[in-house]
Amino acid sequence: EQIEKGGYDHFMLKEIHEQPRAIIDTFRGRLLRSEGIIKMSGVEDNMKKLLNADRIIIAACGTSWHAGLVAEYIFEEFARIPVEVEYASEFRYRNPVISEKDVLIAISQSGETADTLAAIKLAKSKGAFVFGVCNVVGSSIARETDAGAYTHAGPEIGVASTKAFTTQITVLALMALRLARAKGTMSSSKYRLYLQEIELIPAKIERLLKVDEKVKEIAEIYQHVPNCLYLGRGFNFPVALEGALKLKEISYIHAEGYPAAEMKHGPIALIDENMPVIVIATDSEHYEKIVSNIQEIKSRKGKIIAIVTEGDHVVKNLADHVIEIPYVEEAFSPLLTTIPLQLLSYHIAVMRGCNVDQPRNLAKSVTVE
Ligand code: G6P
Repeated sequence: EQIEKGGYDHFMLKEIHEQPRAIIDTFRGRLLRSEGIIKMSGVEDNMKKLLNADRIIIAACGTSWHAGLVAEYIFEEFARIPVEVEYASEFRYRNPVISEKDVLIAISQSGETADTLAAIKLAKSKGAFVFGVCNVVGSSIARETDAGAYTHAGPEIGVASTKAFTTQITVLALMALRLARAKGTMSSSKYRLYLQEIELIPAKIERLLKVDEKVKEIAEIYQHVPNCLYLGRGFNFPVALEGALKLKEISYIHAEGYPAAEMKHGPIALIDENMPVIVIATDSEHYEKIVSNIQEIKSRKGKIIAIVTEGDHVVKNLADHVIEIPYVEEAFSPLLTTIPLQLLSYHIAVMRGCNVDQPRNLAKSVTVE
């Protein structure tokens, strides 16, 4: 097992560090930047169905559901296709309205999650076209879907999902870009810029992973807190949810992820000097808004841990701690902002003596309904 961990203390840490490689493996052969082409056979072969879709329904569970939420923002922005993201377990039991003009995208690392599989069967029975995004080759979901695209993350052993999440976003972003070009909803200059941006992501993550020591120092300070709040807006709202989920899963600290603007409708009541608030405040259209959210937290004496873009000055002066990420186009920022949150949960869990790779009560693949 020590050999399998490749010199890391835990599979989770190894898998966090594998993300640059996993993302390269996921876009290899699909992203042909010099030709300006994205080639995904599951998309090419079914282009007509995908382009004629009235809407895309994304069904998934857990971390894969968070990747689906990021994809919602990306598909709508790039390809102007309406997207709904569903917990597979809710979708399948509520008699949803589905037609032949719907496309269901099922996202699953294991390809075995029972509720996601059931959502696929339901959508298929109503005539929808079903596309799978799975990591495990030949899994039940991969076999049950009409078409699909694998994430090439490699085996993920840690129960808390890390590289599966970022590779799922990568596949879905490629798909959204391909559809955007086919639909003409994105200019060719923007399209080329995005292709270039995706190619740069692995090197940026590699550089970002050097924040590990800093994140460890922050973990040291907050390892004993009973609660944590995670805030983000836009593309990074789902990252706030995912950050909170990671902390809950492996450190057993209660954490909540919230869209930053919703803070004033509830969570703000929880903020005092004992509440750490992790805020994703990277360069974006909402930057000013997030700064004012941070000011609201500060005036209530909450402890602010901010994820910012390199070169930031404003948030740096307000926050108790900042973690910098390299500059990236906003739509792809979840691929970076999620990394320090994975590391933060990891270090806190290790410091608390938790079983990081196999947290209590959780399973890697949930095959019961
Ligand atoms: C379990 C795992 C999570 C995972 C979720 C969905 O809860 O512990 O890490 O995100 O199932 O799994 P899937 O394999 O469908 O992505």
